[in-house]
Amino acid sequence: MSDIFLRAFGRAPAVEASAPGRVNLIGDHTDYAEGFCLPMPLDLETSVALAPAHAFRACSEGMGATLVFDPFGPPRGDWTDYIAGPLAELAKAGFDVPPVEVSVCSSVPSGAGLSSSAALEVATLRAMLALTGQTLPDGEVARLAQAGENNYCGVQCGILDQMASAVGRSAQALLLDCRTNTGRLVTVPPEFHFAIVHCGEPRRLADAAYNARRQATAEAARRLGLPALRDADAGALSVLADGEMLKRARHVVTENERVLAAASALEAADLGRFGALMNESHVSLARDFEVSTPALDRLVESALDAGAAGARLTGAGFGGCIVALFPPDISDWWPRVAAGNPAAWRVGDGA
Ligand code: GLA
Repeated sequence: MSDIFLRAFGRAPAVEASAPGRVNLIGDHTDYAEGFCLPMPLDLETSVALAPAHAFRACSEGMGATLVFDPFGPPRGDWTDYIAGPLAELAKAGFDVPPVEVSVCSSVPSGAGLSSSAALEVATLRAMLALTGQTLPDGEVARLAQAGENNYCGVQCGILDQMASAVGRSAQALLLDCRTNTGRLVTVPPEFHFAIVHCGEPRRLADAAYNARRQATAEAARRLGLPALRDADAGALSVLADGEMLKRARHVVTENERVLAAASALEAADLGRFGALMNESHVSLARDFEVSTPALDRLVESALDAGAAGARLTGAGFGGCIVALFPPDISDWWPRVAAGNPAAWRVGDGA
């Protein structure tokens, strides 16, 4: 890590900090409706190294030239916005944000739905806090990281990714309540083995489609006279005459129920129940929320064919990854899942 900094800026960095990507086991498109999610941090992580400088400059492994950016100016429209945005929010919150040179190195694949953006945002904030000798609770780091992405990068994401990255703990699931911004760690039983597999297609047109989904759920809550869809009851949704809005709302309401049931299934080490909830989640994301793609659907099917107890797209959808749960007694599942899918990761069995 410090090698990249040394090569780019000709000296050693003053501080380094890191933050992980995450897989969301269940509970997608619920966070911005103040609902529930169940993410787990990954061993894949992003590291940020900093040193004080006269101007803000950043370089990233494999990203070519060093770029000048300015958290106090307009966004550049590239990856440096995910550094500048959180720093702008840190300054708005009254913290000291001096100019720095920054180097980034990451094993979190970008555009895969594994929160490479949040890992960069959280690692940036941690590095700046370490450099300036300031501290913030992890939950506040997550909140500033999200605000940076909302306000500077123009992506109206919820708090799922940033909380998972800042508050989550390795190899444990985090039952997140996105209304109170609090999480409860849930141990993943040793017999739960997860595989994450990329469908081969990057997320396309994701930001616009994502923001449209978010607006639809907010509008549904408004029509129901509720602060958020978190408060809606499945039986009361029929007043939403608009067919598309009804489907979007139904996904959020039923997904919240599935997350709570899945956390209980994890605690009870009930693999069959957890898998069934993952399958229901994928169907709901595909049919009601309409964020799946043919490639994601095919990959879910092939994981189930290989013996998975459940499989679903993970993250925003529109491309990226699926997550599948495999029982320990199917010894040949990994070669069958990984075959022909160079971008695949195993979680939960120490692999
Ligand atoms: C993206 C967003 C999150 C969340 C997921 C879908 O990862 O950044 O806030 O909405 O999509 O669950």
